Amino acid sequence: MWNFPLFPDQASTNAARVDALFLFELGVILFFTLAVCLAIFVLVVRFRRGRIVDRSGPPLEARWLEVTWIVIPLILSMIMFAWSADVYFRLYQAPPDAAEISVVGKQWMWYLQHPEGRSEINQLHVPVGRPIKLKMTSQDVIHSFYVPAFRIKQDVLPGRYTTLWFEPSKVGTYHLFCTEYCGTSHSEMIGTVTVMEPAEYDGWLAAGGAGPSQADEGERLFVQHHCAGCHRGSQVVNAPRLEGVYGKPVPIQDGKEVRFVTADDRYIRDSILMPRQEVVAGYQPVMPSFQGQISEPDLLKIIAYIKSLAAKETGTVR
Ligand code: CUA
Repeated sequence: MWNFPLFPDQASTNAARVDALFLFELGVILFFTLAVCLAIFVLVVRFRRGRIVDRSGPPLEARWLEVTWIVIPLILSMIMFAWSADVYFRLYQAPPDAAEISVVGKQWMWYLQHPEGRSEINQLHVPVGRPIKLKMTSQDVIHSFYVPAFRIKQDVLPGRYTTLWFEPSKVGTYHLFCTEYCGTSHSEMIGTVTVMEPAEYDGWLAAGGAGPSQADEGERLFVQHHCAGCHRGSQVVNAPRLEGVYGKPVPIQDGKEVRFVTADDRYIRDSILMPRQEVVAGYQPVMPSFQGQISEPDLLKIIAYIKSLAAKETGTVR
C-alpha cells in the first residue's frame, strides 16, 4: 500500500500550533510565488519582440502601487512575527510542574534517566497528558534531539545544559532522531519515544525495580567523590553548605566586587568542574577540580541530589 504521510503524527499539545503556522507561511509563499510567476509570464508574452503593442509613455510613478506593496507585506510579516513569537514561547517555556528527565547524548547513543531512577538507552517512555522537561547535555560533540511527532528539536551541547519540553497528547510510539551530524554513525543515533497511559507508565516505572532514585544515586556519588567531607561533614575545611542553595542567589567574589549568580544547574556543574571560577564570597578557593573524573550522567545525578536538598532549610544546619 502506498504510504507516504506528508506530516508526522501530531502527538504533542504544541504540534497543531506549529503546523498551523507552517501552513500559513507556506500559503503566503505559494501565493506570492505564483503571482510573480504569473506576472512574468503575462508580461513576457504581451511585450515580446515583434508584437505590436503601445510602448509609449510607460508609467513612471504609481503611488497607490508602492503603498500597496509596502503595506501588505508589512502586515503579513507582522502577523508572522507575532504568531511565531507566540509559538516559540509556548515551545521553549516549560511549565513549572513539568517532570524532569535527564538526557546525555554521546557517539552514538542517547542515555536517559528518569527522576525515579530508571534509565534507558535510545528509548524514552513518558505518560500521556503530563508535561515533560528534558535537561540535556553531550559527552562529546554536538548532537540534536528531535522528535518530529512532538514538533520539538534542540541542540545538545558538550559543556552546558539545554532544555526542551513537551506534553504528549497521543498514546503511541514515535521516532527519535539525532539531527546534528555527529560522526560516522550519526544516522544510527536514533530511537523511539513511547507515550503510555499514566497507569501503564507507573507500571513500567515500577517494573524497573525499586532502585534508588536519581537523587539517591547522586548522594552516593557525593559521598564517593568526597564532596560530603567538606560540604556537609566536619568543619575542618570551611566549605559552603548546600542545603537550600538550589535556585537561590549566591554571592560570588569577583575581584573586589561581590556579585550574585543563581545556583542553577549551570552553576553547580561549573562549580564541580571549574571550582576556582566562581568562588562564594567569604570562602577560600581550595576546592579541587573534578574535570574528567565525573561522567555527564553522574554530574546530572549529583545536581539532582543537590536540588533535592533545596527543600531543606539552610537555617537548620550550621
Ligand atoms: Cu548525534 Cu548525530
